[in-house]
Amino acid sequence: VALTLAVLGATGRMGRLVVQEIAATEELALGAAVASPNSAYLGVDAGTVAGIHALGVYVAACGPGAFDGCDVVIDFSLPEGLTLALRHIGDRPLVSGTTGLEARGVDRLIAHAVKAPVLLAANFSTGVNLLLDLVERAARSLPDYDIEIIEAHHRHKVDAPSGTAYALAHAAAQGRNVTLDDVVQHGREGRTGERPVGQIGMHAIRGGGIVGEHQVWLVGMGERVLLGHSAISRKSFAQGAVRAARWVQTQPPGTWSMAHVLGLTSSPT
Ligand SMILES: NC(=O)c1ccc[n+]([C@@H]2O[C@H](COP(=O)([O-])OP(=O)(O)OC[C@H]3O[C@@H](n4cnc5c(N)ncnc54)[C@H](OP(=O)(O)O)[C@@H]3O)[C@@H](O)[C@H]2O)c1
Repeated sequence: VALTLAVLGATGRMGRLVVQEIAATEELALGAAVASPNSAYLGVDAGTVAGIHALGVYVAACGPGAFDGCDVVIDFSLPEGLTLALRHIGDRPLVSGTTGLEARGVDRLIAHAVKAPVLLAANFSTGVNLLLDLVERAARSLPDYDIEIIEAHHRHKVDAPSGTAYALAHAAAQGRNVTLDDVVQHGREGRTGERPVGQIGMHAIRGGGIVGEHQVWLVGMGERVLLGHSAISRKSFAQGAVRAARWVQTQPPGTWSMAHVLGLTSSPT
């Protein structure tokens, strides 16, 4: 075994898929399966929780020693889970897909990146990371088109807009050389007045079992350019996260993105 991985959030929708992916890969081993201190699965075999065979690794509460023996931590938990884990992961490399972090949570990750490589991705799919690049270029090439970002996710998602929608909005803002906070508009209601020039609109749809849909509209007076991505299965996110974990273990401390893993950029984040 070349690499032993810890999964934080191992009992969740994404964590279970990551456990499956690790179990299916010869050079990888699951070293720890971590959940919240009041998880319903504490002590249950992580392979069983993931719906495969027993792996001999039992779900443990996030706390001292929970990550012992692991080379890299893959996190798909919630902001409070990630905050708690940062106290216990020492100087291990971290791959995090958790979304909805507040500024303080991001600061804590940046602090961790001083001692270990930290790879953050609002979306681990190859297609979305290509889309980020396309959106930045389109926003730059069509400077006077109105940009609206629409995303749709399953009814269990607890944050909005999605981390991916934010990443797309930041890419569009970057293409326009503006700061997203200065131009973003979340939804519209009532007497809004005319749409300001340069605004970036964001809209979140929630329903049923939608895995993840993102569309970026660039609307001119006589045409509309549509760029979009549909996630068909969460498996692509789990595969991307495992690929990122293998990549990040050889990197120096600092913050990294999927664009680095996929070779889409070499510049620092
Ligand atoms: N980057 C991407 O590609 C991508 C893709 C999909 C989802 N996501 C993000 O990944 C995160 C997880 O999504 P999900 O759908 O898998 O959520 P989920 O099914 O609700 O799973 C959350 C997991 O986090 C654990 N957890 C919750 N609070 C915790 C705490 N305080 N300490 C330690 N563990 C804690 C839960 O364990 P127990 O409840 O058993 O304690 C569970 O294992 C979300 O932020 C989501 O937006 C990212």
